[in-house]
Amino acid sequence: MNFETLSYEKKDFVGTLTINRPKALNALNRQLLTELGQFLNEVDEDKDLRCLIITGSGDKAFVAGADIKEMEDLDAAGAKEFSKLGQDVFRRLEVLKVPVIAAVNGFALGGGLELAMACDFILASDDAKLGLPETSLGLIPGFGGTVRLRRYVGMGKAKEMTYTGDHYSSEEAYNFGLVTKILPKADLLAAAEKMASKISKRGPVAVGIAKMAINESGDLALDAAMEMERSQFGAIFKTEDKNIGINAFINKEKPNFKGE
Ligand code: CAA
Repeated sequence: MNFETLSYEKKDFVGTLTINRPKALNALNRQLLTELGQFLNEVDEDKDLRCLIITGSGDKAFVAGADIKEMEDLDAAGAKEFSKLGQDVFRRLEVLKVPVIAAVNGFALGGGLELAMACDFILASDDAKLGLPETSLGLIPGFGGTVRLRRYVGMGKAKEMTYTGDHYSSEEAYNFGLVTKILPKADLLAAAEKMASKISKRGPVAVGIAKMAINESGDLALDAAMEMERSQFGAIFKTEDKNIGINAFINKEKPNFKGE
């Protein structure tokens, strides 16, 4: 994999993707979004990947939003097309087979918060700032922010955040459920790796199906969601990992899952 705006490392089933445009605080331009889409297509085929971490390069920002300078000359059709590019790539990320942890190491604003919210959950450094400041620019969020934020924080808070465009500290974001853990900045990546490593030792098929079931249940009526869970619970009993996990428990051993 060779991308100008991204760097990637993998160790023991855990991949770490770094958004790499530090001079622009990792702002999302067309090239970066296109490369991110290509990266996700490649990585979704990797059978040796069990958890992905996304973080930002430099010590200041996760991602400071969509690239404002690149948006300057967009007309309505161009803006709609740019929005679709970001929406499609983030949707691709959201349905990636493996869990994705956002390690938010600084500003996560606008498209940056939208990227973090398309991950499975958000760990943040103690100095991080999160928000959707688009209305300060006379814009609205365009990469899924009006859709995903309310699912994390509820309708009222999503509206407050979007209308004011305020930046929120990681502590505030933790208090209203946007962030699941706050860490000292120096420890953030190690903590994300530790959690990813733990997840990578669970049954990979089970984790992938749990991800899909949790994501999809939000869009289904309760009985349909229960039916979907039931079907998936049945399907998991056809896997080798289920035999490995249950046998290991009975024999008082640690399971060594194969992901099949
Ligand atoms: N797009 C393009 N360039 C950006 C950028 C962005 N979103 N954010 C920062 N940069 C650039 C700055 O222009 C600056 O470049 P130069 O050195 O060439 O001038 C460099 O990154 C460093 O930024 P600052 O000097 O501004 O750094 P700061 O510490 O003073 O402020 C900040 C940091 C508060 C994050 C500030 O940069 C900022 O407000 N950035 C914009 C945040 C924002 O509004 N994001 C939403 C974008 S719109 C969007 O995302 C729409 C959508 O949903 C699709």
